[in-house]
Amino acid sequence: MLTQIKDLASKLAPRLVEIRRHIHAHPELSGQEYQTAAFIAGVLSSSGLHVEEGVGKIGVVGELQGANDDGRVLAIRADMDALPIQERSGLEYASRISGVMHACGHDIHTTVGLGTAMVLSQIGSELGGKVKFLFQPAEEIAQGASWMVNDGVMNNVSAILGLHVFPSIPAGTIGIRYGALTAAADDLEILIFGESGHGARPHEAIDAIWIAAQVITSLQQAISRTQNPLRPVVLSIGKINGGRAPNVIADQVQLLGTVRSLHPETRTQLPNWIENIVANVCNSYGAKYQVNYQQGVPSVQNDYTLTQLLQLSAEEAWTSDRVQILPEPSLGAEDFSVYLDYAPGSMFRLGVGYKDRIINHPLHHPQFEVDESAIITGVVTLAYAAYKYWHTI
Ligand code: NI
Repeated sequence: MLTQIKDLASKLAPRLVEIRRHIHAHPELSGQEYQTAAFIAGVLSSSGLHVEEGVGKIGVVGELQGANDDGRVLAIRADMDALPIQERSGLEYASRISGVMHACGHDIHTTVGLGTAMVLSQIGSELGGKVKFLFQPAEEIAQGASWMVNDGVMNNVSAILGLHVFPSIPAGTIGIRYGALTAAADDLEILIFGESGHGARPHEAIDAIWIAAQVITSLQQAISRTQNPLRPVVLSIGKINGGRAPNVIADQVQLLGTVRSLHPETRTQLPNWIENIVANVCNSYGAKYQVNYQQGVPSVQNDYTLTQLLQLSAEEAWTSDRVQILPEPSLGAEDFSVYLDYAPGSMFRLGVGYKDRIINHPLHHPQFEVDESAIITGVVTLAYAAYKYWHTI
């Protein structure tokens, strides 16, 4: 079966590169992926899948029924949105849309998803159930997965697989991670209310800017002293608004930030932990405060059995030196985690770096490029994992 999957994939290679370049040249922002979705639906239909459009607002679902049916449904997820970045790769198939670029490799994810559908559609007789391809919008704004789930895409799903490109490992290599792959990413707003006064007479005012500085410092110090260092928390204040004039003491400051954590138990404690620190500082100096903690996407926690399925599939398909067990998670976020509330799953990292380059630009860089040979690595790994799902689990 592996040889057959590899043959099918390599025959499809030129077509898949064409597909990828088309999507790359026509990127669309989160929540606006209408052309991409229509294109995907066309490819899936012509491969004989049952296609549903407009799922999760703009998403596409393609279903492939195996010859047998043990009732299990394996979902394979790809995202399709691009970023508000002006591409500077200089490639002939670079973005034709000003200020929009596939700089996170979602064009590759979509292409690998389509390639896997095309391969599996030709070996459907070997599948013991249904494969459901989820092409979701709006991953970059961490909303698309929720839109898809709200439309019921996970209702009958038994397991879900996904991938993300990774420029720091070479094309042809698969990165496997057991346990946490990405962090929970939550939004934080802290409002500090003091009292205005003359800049020359601080004792008659309550300086919200000075108190905000104390709050930021206290939060960073408290992370190092009161959070378990083996359970990382990153709190970054990325925006501060406050003050009216150089010689007027500020009466109000707004702090906006992101909070990242890996352990679900740690995450549930963070809102209170932050509020206590803010309260202690503000109370000490007579300021009032408000803390708004908004939960974003949870951490991606890869399921052991499905991660092993991906590892073994990749090791059999390639060689074990082309499969890296990743020692560390990322504190980036990925809304693949939203699906994991409904079924176990695993996401792998697809190496896309050029082996002969000293620098492979990182994700979200205007010169981000991928070695397209990775497409076939991804397709074979996923198609073979789908086959093995019914033959080994
Ligand atoms: Ni991404």
